[in-house]
Amino acid sequence: MAILFDEKHSAITIETANSTYQIGIGKYGFLLHLYYGKKVSGDMGYLINYRTRAYSLNPFDSGTDRTFALDNLPFEYPCYGSGDFRPAAFNMKTNAGVYGCDLRYVSHRVVPGKYAIPGLPAVYVDESKAVPLENKISMKNEPLESSAKTSVCKSETLEIVLADPVAGVEVTLLYGVIESLDVITRATIVRNTAASDIVITKALSGCLDFTHGDFDLLHFPGKQGMEHIQKRAPIIQGKQSFGSLRGASSHQHNPFVILADSSASEDTGSCYGMMLLYSGNFICEADRDQYCKTRISMGIQDEMFEYTLKPGEAFHTPEVAYAYSHSGLAHLSHTYHKLVSHHIVRGPYRDIMRPILVNSWEAAYFDFDGEKLIAIAQNAAKLGVEMLVLDDGWFGNRRADASGGLGDWYVNEEKLGMPLSAMVDEINGLGMKFGIWIEPEMVSTDSGLYHAHPDWAFAVPGRGPAWGRNQLVLDFSRKEVVDNIFNQIAAVMDSANIEYIKMDMNRSLADIYSHGETYQNAGATMHKFVLGVYDFLERMNTRYPHVLIEGCCGGGGRFDAGMLYYTPQIWCSDNTDAISRLKIHHGTSFGYPASAMGAHVTTVPNHQTGRSNICINTRGAVAMSGTFGYELDLGKLTADEQQAVKQQVADYKKYWHLIHQGQYYRLTDPNKNSAFAAWAYVSEDKSEALMNVVNLEAQCNPQTYYIALKGLDPDAMYNISVPGADDSNQDKMPTHETTQVSNIYSGSALMYGGLPVPTFRDEHQLWQVHIKTAGIAAQ
Ligand code: DGJ
Repeated sequence: MAILFDEKHSAITIETANSTYQIGIGKYGFLLHLYYGKKVSGDMGYLINYRTRAYSLNPFDSGTDRTFALDNLPFEYPCYGSGDFRPAAFNMKTNAGVYGCDLRYVSHRVVPGKYAIPGLPAVYVDESKAVPLENKISMKNEPLESSAKTSVCKSETLEIVLADPVAGVEVTLLYGVIESLDVITRATIVRNTAASDIVITKALSGCLDFTHGDFDLLHFPGKQGMEHIQKRAPIIQGKQSFGSLRGASSHQHNPFVILADSSASEDTGSCYGMMLLYSGNFICEADRDQYCKTRISMGIQDEMFEYTLKPGEAFHTPEVAYAYSHSGLAHLSHTYHKLVSHHIVRGPYRDIMRPILVNSWEAAYFDFDGEKLIAIAQNAAKLGVEMLVLDDGWFGNRRADASGGLGDWYVNEEKLGMPLSAMVDEINGLGMKFGIWIEPEMVSTDSGLYHAHPDWAFAVPGRGPAWGRNQLVLDFSRKEVVDNIFNQIAAVMDSANIEYIKMDMNRSLADIYSHGETYQNAGATMHKFVLGVYDFLERMNTRYPHVLIEGCCGGGGRFDAGMLYYTPQIWCSDNTDAISRLKIHHGTSFGYPASAMGAHVTTVPNHQTGRSNICINTRGAVAMSGTFGYELDLGKLTADEQQAVKQQVADYKKYWHLIHQGQYYRLTDPNKNSAFAAWAYVSEDKSEALMNVVNLEAQCNPQTYYIALKGLDPDAMYNISVPGADDSNQDKMPTHETTQVSNIYSGSALMYGGLPVPTFRDEHQLWQVHIKTAGIAAQ
């Protein structure tokens, strides 16, 4: 049993395999946070220090007792307005002009299984969310095989009801527990119990309020073309917050955060993760108070948010997933990788190898017709690539990114020079699948849709809306808008054998004004827009269950766990430079698995950075650290490069079980180590690993560097080999010169002694090492 009630101490304990979370029903009905961390037993209420605090307020019911200091106690779901002056998780106003509330405990109960949230993504435990294997499509040249680990996870839900009868509000806190994974999810339901409207002005998904501890905040800021760059800084007194106001989770900040003990490292120490399953405006607030206590909360951004509830109505917040690790950041990442891979991503592609694709964007941009695309597919098929993706430019009157067409989702047959179905049939005839790009939430003013429905685009009456990439945003908070776009796109999907969709979003939201029936509730429109996007995606998944959808938002501008519920993979960045990608993948890996990160091999000089000196092997290994594909004209490759591509396709299939199902280890920090970047995948049974090392700096007379492996069995003996190192390409491999490197090592030697890194011949050269148990006992 994962959730226990200790009546004597009025404490509710949530136990996972390795962690304990304890809640206290405190004096006067305040819901206190007692403890979250490594597994403990007993009542943790002793951690709370009740004492008089100057300039703190005490509840009215406490009379002359001044020790229940409201801005000194840790709360489960702190609200504004009744004496806690730290950042609140909840705030509201009433028609009578009351701002804030005072939430007290009413009841709690434990329900078997994990709750779901209507219209919103949520962690699931039920295996039926993954389409059964028998129904799955088979992959070209690939026997239909799955790694699906039958879930033996036990899950339960704790519901705690709080209420403020004066304000007319009832708040239900939901806690979903996945015991074996050390994951606890949180979400909130707010109900209007008053006789008139109430307005929610802030309703975060969850809050963690620690009695003590010195913490660092790890978060993943960035920009378009350089997303998810890991940053770490101590939390100091005051509020530190980050989030998005752009309508999407954004390139600038990711809705995933880690609170790490200040001494925690990759391999040691306590750390807590918070991953929000939401793709719109969000906020994360961390606060260290005057007494050095830390509070951290996450949820929908309160700026621009105001949600009116009529009597009896309810509002559901999105969900945040907590995880705890007592052994450092690597373990925390492994937990999130499992959570995302097995309890957030759904559908047939959850457990099988995704098709290796070639995308037309960097291969041709808008300069294509059907013949050219078929030629790209022919070249790709010869090299073993499995799917052609037709990116932007195939529909309406679209000619360039500044031109029209968005909103008119019909095939431009004149441009293609043939019907889509004829082209797709030809591509299928090569043994390849076909996929297509869409950007459903957007509209060009030069489009039939805009001319017919100008009020479907966000714009404040009387004011010209801000442009973004010369396009406007459709009001997806309105069902009729989503219906129209869905029906248009479904007609294209039904017209040809389309097996993949890349769903893009190329601008941020502004000028929010809904001309639909929701216009009086403008503060809710940004949220309802996100619900409309989820509705669109859910309908796509339901109608086309075997179509793989890849999310995209000008790269990683909407790379979040909410989207991953609908789209198993997301294009990680528009920056396809493999050296830039080392930092991007490094940051992304803290919360998200390689199977979620869209990554492609592109040409050199790279189209975004202009960098030339990245050999095809390095570009391949970096792209293989994601979902793997190509985005260049494969017909222009030299014979050697073509050979390398064939080898990469074979290697990806050979090592896929490690890359997508093994455990990922960050062996260096590319933001700090300027000499080389290294990372590895280790099978869960520790019998096999793949390590990649990329030289970052050309050096004269370099020192000898050493790299320590992680995650191996110290007592096992391992054979190491360098894939592709045969006599024919020795000159392309880094060398160990005079260092004595054998082939067989103990796991302890590889992890604690390390391996000498060979001398690289070229900047950005790759050293890849395959490690496999040698089948002999360690001496
Ligand atoms: C932005 C995406 O990130 C690119 O990959 C490409 O699809 C373009 N949009 C197309 O307009």
